[in-house]
Amino acid sequence: MIEQSSDDEEFLRLREDILSCERCSLRQEAHGVVFGEGDSHNPPLVFIGEGPGEEEDRLLRPFVGPAGRLLDKMLYAAGFDRFHGVYILNVVKCRPPFNRTPTQEERRACWPHLTAQLRYLSPRIVVLLGATAMQTLLGISSLSAARGRWHERGGVFFLATYHPAALLRNPQWKVKAWDDLKKIVDKYRECINPDHEAPFYRKQN
Ligand code: URA
Repeated sequence: MIEQSSDDEEFLRLREDILSCERCSLRQEAHGVVFGEGDSHNPPLVFIGEGPGEEEDRLLRPFVGPAGRLLDKMLYAAGFDRFHGVYILNVVKCRPPFNRTPTQEERRACWPHLTAQLRYLSPRIVVLLGATAMQTLLGISSLSAARGRWHERGGVFFLATYHPAALLRNPQWKVKAWDDLKKIVDKYRECINPDHEAPFYRKQN
């Protein structure tokens, strides 16, 4: 994992702090804390999910189960990959039992970790995967109303889209998810790299 070769002290301290967290009871039932992974050196793009699932809890890496495999395919189609210019986080760092939605209290307990991570990573674009991430970061509760639109907060562009696990359950939503992904590529080309290549979304000249 790329960030493990990072020798940035602030980031290592943040990691240690989060890995030793016992701010809520989720830690007691989880196998461990899933910090997140990716390119920790000023990644322009951060993806935020809800919380680790079974495989994530076992491997202590985010999005490595079935939803993660779909996320990797989506990233590939858009010309991104999780280790270059991208970082993947979750709202809560420990697996909620039986993959239930994390409670408000659990989200609140993990909030200082998430904000510290975002402050350090300082992305330009944040993609919120599903309603939990959207509610937590934007305070908006209806995914259908807010999905696929840009929300600017302090110079950072947030876009909420379907959670990949929801796409696995509802494949008919994939068309809309692809539209959202194209908006992310457009924004990336606008703000970060006008020449960004996406294998399934070529730039129009
Ligand atoms: N679902 C999430 O929200 N996060 C993960 O890391 C895995 C599945």
